[in-house]
Amino acid sequence: MTLSQKAGALSFFEDLHPPKSRFLDDVLTGLSQSQKMIPPKHFYDAKGSALFDDITGTDDYYVTRTELGILDEIAGDIASRAGRGAVVIEPGSGSSVKIDKLLNALDQPAAYIGLDISKEHLISACADLADRFDGLSVGAICADFTQAVPLDNLPIPDGRRLVFFPGSTIGNFEPEDARSLLKTLRGWLRPGDAILIGADRVKSRDVLENAYDDQQGVTAAFNLNLLTRINRELDGDIDVAAFSHRAVWNDTRSRVEMHLVADRDLSFTISGRSFEMAAGETIHTENSHKFTVDRFTELAASAGLSVMTHWSDERGYFTLYWLERS
Ligand code: AVJ
Repeated sequence: MTLSQKAGALSFFEDLHPPKSRFLDDVLTGLSQSQKMIPPKHFYDAKGSALFDDITGTDDYYVTRTELGILDEIAGDIASRAGRGAVVIEPGSGSSVKIDKLLNALDQPAAYIGLDISKEHLISACADLADRFDGLSVGAICADFTQAVPLDNLPIPDGRRLVFFPGSTIGNFEPEDARSLLKTLRGWLRPGDAILIGADRVKSRDVLENAYDDQQGVTAAFNLNLLTRINRELDGDIDVAAFSHRAVWNDTRSRVEMHLVADRDLSFTISGRSFEMAAGETIHTENSHKFTVDRFTELAASAGLSVMTHWSDERGYFTLYWLERS
């Protein structure tokens, strides 16, 4: 099926024309800073997306498995809170396993609206969903949800809105950006509507560092794939074998940081620009912030959202929060 045939299966498709992914700009700018950095959104080329799926299956990465377990436990509670005929809105429409679980739990959901910056991924994921859920009205909005996205004039069906933001994706953002993202999501709510959001918890350094440096080496491959992607797409000549993966818990900032460490002095070019790194110097590629329930409740409050209830697994590794406008 072509993309436009797939789009034909949707009740609406709205293209808000997000700016093209600024991969080259982000890489050249990020590698010119004293602490070199590249934003984590650039991990997800086809290979990176496949590697992320593999990460979720490793023994050490407890995050996805734990959240899915909680979703199973609370399915009935979610269904009665959301009521019949809910309209589910998912920014960054991601894992079909999670959204299937939610839609199966709900009482006759009226509609699903996916929102993503990648048009191809969005339309495929939404068309698949329309295919799997007979009678569900599925709409898609191509937009960058890290920018303000007003939903006011879009043909979203009536019904109680449930914004679904699982996976602890919120943890990728610095506190200020996390707050403004929550404000954007809040802007989609009318009285009575809610957000169901997952956030990973603070826990022991060992468990956290192992989750981001799994025994099987999948997370290392995921991190290093960013360099392979730069070489292929941005005309780079980086010696990928001269880098190692590092995951480290930063207690002060309550986050796991991932870095790519230069094993020796290096020089390379990207699209004609030259860069040098000294042995031991790093490229910072990701932050995964972890939250206590109190800290997350404060963050939500600072965005005008109240935690109505929350659910965790037995170990207290991960928490799902039900948020409403304060
Ligand atoms: C998709 C951002 C939630 O931070 O745990 C997993 C990405 N990076 N292993 C996370 C990730 C390395 C993941 N998120």
